[in-house]
Amino acid sequence: MTVKKAVIPAAGLGTRFLPVTKSMPKEMLPIIDVPAIHYVVKEALDSGIDDIIIITGRSKRAIEDYFDDSPELEMHLAKKNNLDLLSMVQEISSLVDIHYIRQKEPLGLGDAVLRAEKHICDEPFAVLLGDDIVRNSTPCTRQLIDIYNRYRCSVLAVEDVPEEMVSSYGIIKGKNLEDLLYLLEDIVEKPKKDDAPSMMGAIGRYVFTQEIFDSLKKTSSGVGGEIQLTDGIRRLNERQNIYAYKFVGRRYDTGDRMGYIEAIIDSALDQGDLRDDLIAYMRQVVVR
Ligand code: G1P
Repeated sequence: MTVKKAVIPAAGLGTRFLPVTKSMPKEMLPIIDVPAIHYVVKEALDSGIDDIIIITGRSKRAIEDYFDDSPELEMHLAKKNNLDLLSMVQEISSLVDIHYIRQKEPLGLGDAVLRAEKHICDEPFAVLLGDDIVRNSTPCTRQLIDIYNRYRCSVLAVEDVPEEMVSSYGIIKGKNLEDLLYLLEDIVEKPKKDDAPSMMGAIGRYVFTQEIFDSLKKTSSGVGGEIQLTDGIRRLNERQNIYAYKFVGRRYDTGDRMGYIEAIIDSALDQGDLRDDLIAYMRQVVVR
């Protein structure tokens, strides 16, 4: 059985991005004119996923509205004969069927993933965190699914992180098996620099066997008083092999202000109608 379902946790309060996240989901922050979560949903689709579950919380309605039909807007665009915009808007709502599950209390990432259990049933599934955008011709989730198909085990995407950032990540200890591939030996959520088992941090892309749910149910609250996905992974690793894969691609942490700016700049540099103007403007302000 291959991976056809994905869970996108989007119930977090977005405290790193206050005040804008006071009234707006952080997943809807625009990378120029496209919300971050659009890229995440698109990555799942491009990886062969056809069933998406978004875990939402209060004040996340904008996410549902974004992926839904918008009859008034469509009628308006049709009346104005603005057919390009009309088909762009219609395409978004016909991308894929999305199911929404509410996490009533923000009890942590592990608890958010656990909310999807009934919908996933007995299948392997992907988890994509809404903050992370990864650009590459082979989508990051596809790379993980390919590893899953080889070993039939859970697999997480990792990358080297700067020493001063280890306390922001789930940090792994792994045994190198081949180029880019590690067998997970341990994972620690947000360790202090001196306690980190390596500099390899889990980014927000995972593929899990369904036994992760059992492990999460037995996981009590950890760092920050929250039920941590990392602690569930650690418990799962006691009964199953888990792999860590140094994915190929460029990852942006759009939940971080600098990561967000980088995502916007790189996106603008990729767009023919913005690139030259942006370069000219940057030259002007940097030389000033
Ligand atoms: C979460 C996970 C952490 C992971 C990170 C990747 O942390 O708990 O293990 O390394 O995402 O972005 P958060 O960024 O939600 O604090």
